[in-house]
Amino acid sequence: MARAAASSFRHFFALDFVAFFRYNCFKGALPVGDLENVLIETMAELIEHRSAASEGHVGRVRVFVKALLHAIKDAGVYEDEIANIDIDLAACASQLHDVGKIAVKDGILLKPAALTDAEFELVKNHTALGGKIIGGMITKAGDCKLLQYAKVIAETHHERWDGGGYHQGLKGAEIPLLGRVMAIADVYDALVTKRPYKEAFTHDKAVEIIKNDGGVHFDPVLVQIFVDIICRGNRYPNHNMDKTPQP
Ligand SMILES: [Fe+2]
Ligand SMILES: [Fe+2]
Repeated sequence: MARAAASSFRHFFALDFVAFFRYNCFKGALPVGDLENVLIETMAELIEHRSAASEGHVGRVRVFVKALLHAIKDAGVYEDEIANIDIDLAACASQLHDVGKIAVKDGILLKPAALTDAEFELVKNHTALGGKIIGGMITKAGDCKLLQYAKVIAETHHERWDGGGYHQGLKGAEIPLLGRVMAIADVYDALVTKRPYKEAFTHDKAVEIIKNDGGVHFDPVLVQIFVDIICRGNRYPNHNMDKTPQP
């Protein structure tokens, strides 16, 4: 009896939500842009909640990606690529970079120690899987910039400038600009926050690590831009990573 009541409550709630969604979309009461934002943000937060990322990671990375893309534009580098990127949409899309982690078991994602080679292989699969998940969304929703950016970022954010990354082993400028930007933002935030397998590094140590990895892990031009904006101080006045930095 209780189970039947719970089931019908869930059914009612689901129908009610769908009705609300349709009503607002068709009435235009909730602009689609805002709705997309909310859906992407919520989806990203759900994934973040069960992964090893610290709370607020996807929100901070979004801010970093946006700031980096604006700085690239201001610096006049990679002009052809940046001219074709809608920065706000790309920053929003960056929140889905680890969507493929949904398929990685908790025991691996939350392991408070270094992963074995076999476990790491399973984690590495999240980039290809993320691409597949977002590819499925594109098939259903039709082509749109936001999802195209999300797919590129999900697939390429663990590629390395020297070709030693995954999952395609792309090298240098073969890696799409959004993947190169995401790599820096993602690693910086991972370094300065606590994870199950490591303590948080200081901001200075994190910057040092990223600087040393320019031309190896990261695009050296982007590392210079990252260092310029993050050390300027006025962009990120608050390095307390418990809070979202202000651009
Ligand atoms: Fe990732
Ligand atoms: Fe991440």
